[in-house]
Amino acid sequence: MKSWFWGLAVTAVAAFGSVACGGSAISPEMVQRAQSHDASASEATIMKGKQLFEGKCATCHALPAPTSHTAEEWPEWVKKMAPQAKISGDDEKAVLHYLLGASGG
Ligand code: HEC
Repeated sequence: MKSWFWGLAVTAVAAFGSVACGGSAISPEMVQRAQSHDASASEATIMKGKQLFEGKCATCHALPAPTSHTAEEWPEWVKKMAPQAKISGDDEKAVLHYLLGASGG
């Protein structure tokens, strides 16, 4: 019997599946980190921000890695880049929340 093989295969598929489908999943750590910089951040704003970031911020240059700037630096960049990406208000805030949560420090 090679039941160990199937056990392994099922585990691998489950693990891969959660990574593949979890592309937009926001970890509790990310939410916590974003909230420590902006109390109005939530899983919903971070998720929305991620989508906006990926959709709006790669038209002029490659999508910057969220880890390429610290949580202290991102607000400056988002303020500068939001008009470039034609976003403002809640959308701008959402992008910042995502970057705060995913930032390099
Ligand atoms: C209309 C074009 C345009 C759009 C859209 C745009 N950028 Fe930029 N971005 C630029 C230009 C031009 C520079 C270089 C100028 C500078 O350094 O001030 C730049 C530089 C940057 C930098 C600094 C370089 C780096 O890689 O660290 C960051 C960070 C950045 N953009 C983030 C963003 C984010 C986040 C968004 C989406 C909200 C965005 N950009 C959308 C034109 C754009």
